[in-house]
Amino acid sequence: VFDHVVRAPEDPILGVTVAYNKDPSPVKLNLGVGAYRTEEGKPLVLNVVRKAEQMLVNDRSRVKEYLPIVGLADFNKLSAKLILGADSPAIQDNRVTTVQCLSGTGSLRVGAEFLARHYHQHTIYIPQPTWGNHVKIFGLAGLAVKTYRYYDPATRGLNFRGLLEDLGSAPSGAIVLLHACAHNPTGVDPTAQEWEQIRQLMRLKALLPFFDSAYQGFASGNLDADAQSIRMFVRDGGECLVAQSYAKNMGLYGERVGALSMSISGFSERLTVSVKDEQSTGSADVASRVESQLKLVIRPMYSNPPIHGASIVATILKDRAMFQEWEVELKAMADRIISMRKQLFDALRSRGTPGDWSHIIKQIGMFTFTGLNSTQVAFMTKEYHIYLTSDGRISMAGLSSRTVPHLADAIHAAVTK
Ligand code: LMR
Repeated sequence: VFDHVVRAPEDPILGVTVAYNKDPSPVKLNLGVGAYRTEEGKPLVLNVVRKAEQMLVNDRSRVKEYLPIVGLADFNKLSAKLILGADSPAIQDNRVTTVQCLSGTGSLRVGAEFLARHYHQHTIYIPQPTWGNHVKIFGLAGLAVKTYRYYDPATRGLNFRGLLEDLGSAPSGAIVLLHACAHNPTGVDPTAQEWEQIRQLMRLKALLPFFDSAYQGFASGNLDADAQSIRMFVRDGGECLVAQSYAKNMGLYGERVGALSMSISGFSERLTVSVKDEQSTGSADVASRVESQLKLVIRPMYSNPPIHGASIVATILKDRAMFQEWEVELKAMADRIISMRKQLFDALRSRGTPGDWSHIIKQIGMFTFTGLNSTQVAFMTKEYHIYLTSDGRISMAGLSSRTVPHLADAIHAAVTK
């Protein structure tokens, strides 16, 4: 009965690792998926994570019971504080509801399903380009996916005018997906001033911000700085959704640990969560009703989230010393990536590779959007065993001082061929 099933193509990002794994070459290099590697090219488990895990193992009072549908309470509270700021008025007013989800993807999907059921506008605008999974996550949740201009290939920077035009002509109330920092795949972020203009336009048009925050701490090495865009939107008292991931910034990729926070407006109630007999008693009440509906989204999807990753995060976030240790390790990862940018840029310059490669040092976060086309990428994979996504995105976190020359040779050959 399944004879008709056709083979699906590999995922454009995770499929790169599948191809890499099949390559027997000793010089092969995986710069596809955004996963941090050490200078030795090895995956990294943070010391502070090992320490937290040891503490959890030693605590004999810990059991393996189900978590509540919304996850670990401590984790949720601490995650909201981490992303919105300890002094966030929205948290103080109890206008924020946070649910533990399966990393960034799960948080986006739960938020999307909730919006499809309870928000009056079913159109979401995503940047062009964006992380490939966004299109599927929102489409499968039943939202109509449209794009807004974001990246300008000519400048390899932000198409700010195009962005403002497209959001300016979006229908009132439309949802807008924003990358909180370290835009994936382009590494191009708006400046603080540009964020402020985006915020004003979106609030004027009542567009609903849905932030994807996968790289807090990874862009600048500073957790607060990388959350500024979100905090601007929450500070003005309007609604805001945030999908938060600990995959990169705590290196908890496979633990699938993240959170969805919804900040409810301090002054309006546009989310139409049905209330039959209940009389609203303000934003805190809306937040708690929203949470009750999020539970109805989660329960039939995966019942309740896993306990281990969230316990690691909560252990680190609630202990001052461990938190500081995490900040140091996080900054070291961010700094190593920044130094890879510099080394790759220098290596191309010293080879006299044609073109302006300054975007390599200007772009932010885990990725460089090189501008290499799919033919050049295919050439680099075939001749140099370097694996990257066909859009020319390079995961800088996969690079090391040892492998920079090999990559620079490959890029040089690809653009001069
Ligand atoms: C990436 O863009 O490489 C990461 O976010 C990993 C993924 O799941 O695609």
